[in-house]
This record gives sequence, C-alpha cells and structure tokens, in this order.
Amino acid sequence: MEFSELIKVRRSIRKYKAAPSHEELAAILKEAQQAPSWKNLQTARCYVVESPEKIAEVRTQGLPEGNRSKAENAALIVTTYVKDLSGFNAGVAANAVGNGWGAYDLGLHDAYLILAASNAGYDTLIMGIRNGDAIREALGIPDSETVMSVIAIGKRAEEPGIRPRKEPEEVIRYC
Ligand SMILES: Cc1cc2nc3c(=O)[nH]c(=O)nc-3n(C[C@H](O)[C@H](O)[C@H](O)COP(=O)(O)O)c2cc1C
Repeated sequence: MEFSELIKVRRSIRKYKAAPSHEELAAILKEAQQAPSWKNLQTARCYVVESPEKIAEVRTQGLPEGNRSKAENAALIVTTYVKDLSGFNAGVAANAVGNGWGAYDLGLHDAYLILAASNAGYDTLIMGIRNGDAIREALGIPDSETVMSVIAIGKRAEEPGIRPRKEPEEVIRYC
C-alpha cells in the first residue's frame, strides 16, 4: 500500500470480527523490529497472548471494562521495554530523559507495528489504560521490563471517523 494511503487507513479500531493467524502476527512483528532504537539496543519486547487461558486472564484482569469490550475478537500483544539500557551508558543515564528513551524506542517500535498491521490488512488499538501489575503477573514479565501497552489487532468490524488533528500552526514552529 502507498505510504500516504497507509497513514489514512490506519485508525484506532474498537470493534473487531477476526484475529490474525500466528504466522501473520509473526510477519507483522518481524517488520516492527525494523524500527530504529538507541544504539540499536532493541529493548522493545512483545508478549503475544495466544493460549485461551492467558487471553482470558489478560482480558479480565489486565483490561478495565471499557477497554475489554473494545478488544473482543482481536489478538492481544503486550509491549514492554527493558529498563536502564536505552538512554544509558554503562548503567549511567546519558541525559535527563533517562528511561524515557526506552519508552521512546518502544513507541517507535509500536508505530511500526501498527503500520505494518495496516499494511497487512489488519487494524489495531493501542491501550494505555490497563492494569500493568496484573498483566506482569499473568504473563510472567520480569521486573527488568516496564509494561507499557496492550495492543489489540484484528479485522475491523466498524468504520471509524477520522479523529481531528490540531492545526499545524498549533504544534509546529519553524525556527
Ligand atoms: C499511548 C496510547 C494509549 C492509548 N490508550 C487508549 C486506550 O486505553 N483506550 C482507547 O480506546 N484508545 C486508546 N488510544 C487510542 C487513541 O485514543 C487514538 O490513537 C486517538 O484518539 C487518535 O485516533 P486514531 O488512532 O484513530 O487516529 C491510545 C493511543 C495511544 C497512542
């Protein structure tokens, strides 16, 4: 798909009818790995929730009611980053941003992921409103990682409107 078309097609979808296969997910995640990262450290981690028991656990314990219903019929990917690496030199923060660089790298990774999903004919919803402790417990995520998002991925069962964006003058300054 043309890149500008991909940007238009990609929308947060809150109603799904089918999830991608294991193979389709693996291909999307492989493309997401091409995202740039601090010193190419690649601290982004993905937990693809596949077993029916874990799906049920993440849905009921990890997502509040509002988001749970939006992720029905979709696959779930939990994304985390390994702490104290991106933005650090030999364990010392390179600047005041600290682990913000890990979150930055993960954001880039997840942006690639959702665009790769759109290009493969799937839709996504990034969910930041989630119970990180419950997800950590359910999936055995080590304390060395920060749990960030749950990403629902599947075929859309709704046609969303385009959410408005601010005027460029409000957010961009040419200096
Ligand atoms: C970091 C992040 C967290 C988000 N968390 C949620 C969420 O918990 N629930 C939800 O319905 N949408 C969530 N969204 C989706 C945003 O509301 C959505 O991206 C925004 O309204 C713009 O719409 P669009 O993605 O369709 O362009 C999140 C998006 C991002 C990037």
